Amino acid sequence: MKSVSIGIIGYGTVGQGVVEVLTQNAREIERRGGYQIHIKKVAKRSWAGIDTAALPFECTDDAMTVVNDPEIQIILELMGGDEPAKTLIETALTNRKHVITANKALIAKHGQSLFELARANEVELSYEASVAGGIPVIKLLREALTANAISSVAGIINGTGNFILTAMTEQGRQFDDVLKEAQALGYAEADPAFDINGTDAAHKITILASIAFGIPLQFDAVFTEGIDTLTPADIVNAAELGFVIKHLGMAIRREHGIEVRVHPTLIPSNTMLAGVKGVMNAVQVQGNAVDNSLYYGPGAGRLPTASAVVADLIDAVRELNLDSENRLNEFGFTEIFDKNVLPILPAEEFLTAYYVRMSVRDEIGVLAEVTRILAKHKISIESIIQKIEQKQNGVIPLIFLTDIVQEKYLRDAVKEIESMVAVTEPLRYIRVEYFD
Ligand code: HSE
Repeated sequence: MKSVSIGIIGYGTVGQGVVEVLTQNAREIERRGGYQIHIKKVAKRSWAGIDTAALPFECTDDAMTVVNDPEIQIILELMGGDEPAKTLIETALTNRKHVITANKALIAKHGQSLFELARANEVELSYEASVAGGIPVIKLLREALTANAISSVAGIINGTGNFILTAMTEQGRQFDDVLKEAQALGYAEADPAFDINGTDAAHKITILASIAFGIPLQFDAVFTEGIDTLTPADIVNAAELGFVIKHLGMAIRREHGIEVRVHPTLIPSNTMLAGVKGVMNAVQVQGNAVDNSLYYGPGAGRLPTASAVVADLIDAVRELNLDSENRLNEFGFTEIFDKNVLPILPAEEFLTAYYVRMSVRDEIGVLAEVTRILAKHKISIESIIQKIEQKQNGVIPLIFLTDIVQEKYLRDAVKEIESMVAVTEPLRYIRVEYFD
């Protein structure tokens, strides 16, 4: 059987998982790819505490020697972060090696130039593990659902955030307490701020939007809100109204552009996405031929991520002898800078429904004035709850669910309501999606 040498940069959780999968499933992988995969060299910043003599590959702390090794044909970049990962990938591509990465931030922010470099050197840069770990969502959009005009991709694509929201919803626990548990369990990013403020999900939806709609990667254009501003009261109110709050990443095609957004979202509690709990991920795709489909699985973790990395490796091995023009390109679209490519829409143009919570003085005419302002901005009300039982110092919480409206009108109405004397604090609004 033919043999191919690979090099691995990064031997942490994912790197070790990849070696385990390659070792444990070696025979099956050879049968699938037609090559024996030889791990030649692995780089790790420090090997302290690891018995390197027992490992069946060369161990180095100099990753440059891996990407410059002339015998190595394929590099797995599993170290994460911006630098030195970016320089190492660029060097590997320039050395005409195929690269497989799990680095979502790097693809979302620098993917465009990296894919160009790969193309110029007639090699491939693959990234299945960058989104939703064990769910092969990139292959799904790039290969399996290509018959469809996709209208939306919406998902729970950050396991840590979902773990926190699930515990807050089902156990009434406090945000900080659950975050600590998520960190202890190893779900959270090195900097958990990325999980909580939505950056991690924004990296992932940037990538999914490009594959779903054939548009350039535009991380900076993604509207991003985290879960750190959610209060237990909003979670309880949502439940009373028949909703759960999930932190969703969404890319939705409209007539004149695409909404790409990450934010806490009220979704009906009887939907499939609402049933995705704990650290699990799920991605819902709406296509005009397949209709609505949902893909569920572990979004992170040693072996689920390794499963995605090794699948990319097997694809790369299968295509080793193909000319670059005969390989599938990065998003599966032949034109991504075409003049007909849809732009990403600004938040003012989002079309969605809203949950609006306000604190108002319990006085005659306040509700009438609020509804007048909403009507003036063409906002139709679906339901209202007054929390009389929570009255404190003459102030009550007032909760509205609106019909679908353009976000600009909602923001204008919120500003006007906040200027009322009877309104005692800034309004809180959370977007609502029905997926019907
Ligand atoms: N911190 C990420 C998450 C890991 O919680 O989903 C997977 O990208």
